[in-house]
Amino acid sequence: MGDMKNYESRTAKSRRLYSRSSNVFPGGINHNIRFFQPYPFFVDSAKGKHLNDIDGNRFTDYWMGHWALILGHSPKPVADILATQVRNGTLFGTVNPVSVELAETIQKLMPRAEMMRFSTTGSEATMYAVRLARAKTGRRVIAKAIGGWHGFNTTLMQTVNYPFESEEGPGLIQDEGQYVESIPFNDLEASLKVLETIKDDLACIIIEPVLGGAGCITPEDGYLQGLQEFAKKNDSLFILDEIVTGFRMSLRGAASIYRLEPDLFTLGKIAGGGLPIGIVCGDKEIMSLADPISRKDKEARCAIGGGTFSANPLTMSAGLATLNFLKKNPGVYSKIDRLGSMARKGLEKTFAEGNIQCKVTGAGSLFLTHFGHEQVKDATDVATSDRNMLTKYHLALMADHDIFFLPTKMGAFSYVHEESDVKKLLAATQEIVSSGILRKKK
Ligand SMILES: Cc1ncc(COP(=O)(O)O)c(C=O)c1O
Repeated sequence: MGDMKNYESRTAKSRRLYSRSSNVFPGGINHNIRFFQPYPFFVDSAKGKHLNDIDGNRFTDYWMGHWALILGHSPKPVADILATQVRNGTLFGTVNPVSVELAETIQKLMPRAEMMRFSTTGSEATMYAVRLARAKTGRRVIAKAIGGWHGFNTTLMQTVNYPFESEEGPGLIQDEGQYVESIPFNDLEASLKVLETIKDDLACIIIEPVLGGAGCITPEDGYLQGLQEFAKKNDSLFILDEIVTGFRMSLRGAASIYRLEPDLFTLGKIAGGGLPIGIVCGDKEIMSLADPISRKDKEARCAIGGGTFSANPLTMSAGLATLNFLKKNPGVYSKIDRLGSMARKGLEKTFAEGNIQCKVTGAGSLFLTHFGHEQVKDATDVATSDRNMLTKYHLALMADHDIFFLPTKMGAFSYVHEESDVKKLLAATQEIVSSGILRKKK
């Protein structure tokens, strides 16, 4: 039980491929979080809720493509449209009709997206959002949450990894961080104190409505509203990073759930239907600062919006097919939210019965287990919880029960998961608890 020898004996091909992979990629991976001990399994196909690895193992997936795959892997409406689109051309490098259709669809669902720009990654979208804020306000400072993750762009790569107060590493020079201030998520009083000290030069506050990468933390009542109020009073922009939550927490995003009115917001993941995308959108006047037609003079124009693959027809078609499906099937949300609620309650109960202190955080279809803390309300609580136990738990689910969570990362339900999957997850958890491996040292 939880014996990694079992994993290693089942993944011999992956072990060999990881060794080759390590010769060509630093760390053997192309996204830092995709590595886990002893080595990750290599996937060569995925369908529905399953990941199939090169050794013939099949895992029930709760990572779901960095939480992007709300309809599961390769859902029919997306696969069909992509097959047609591949025949019709994969990259025109010109404007295309389906990009307008996707934008209009987003705008109808989220009317605050008065204008938008498509990019290829979420990291670009958040970089553009804060650049627009600086252009609009003529100010320099950006406030973000401690532990907040907005992608790998240089501007926002600050206070991402614990210990949060230290530098994020060589290559990012200190000067780049001097115009970014971090605030403690869910502590409005302390956040406002920090904001007060920088208010004269504060261009924007950018924040995820639910901290995702930092550990699946929902906002306490009034926290986000308090930040928004401060930003509005201070003529700073309030930017909501909805790259995870947009089209996941509801068709209208987390903004509608938490009753927020961001000046700008970013989307990604689900909006691309499983293909690469980032979107910066919001107030027309602010977005128009990037208009290269009316602002011919480069000094008057905010420089956003490159990208060889931006608005490529494959992503546009996949995104449109996904949003159309979600629009026609509102039952997707009631189903995935119900599964999320069952999992959160069931896991807490299972661990409590095993006398293991545990808190399961999340909302809607998102959830993550934390050990050793009574309360988990910010990124520091997550980082100082028993991460070794969480790693052991996720590895045991993977090695012995064919259930895949990217170790230590939050899980997401997709439309293809069923109640029977929650029952399997709870039964597997029960076995892991009873085995005692979570209590053993190393
Ligand atoms: C909230 C949030 N913002 C931005 C990003 C960056 O998006 P991408 O990985 O597409 O660059 C992510 C990625 O996980 C994210 O979770």
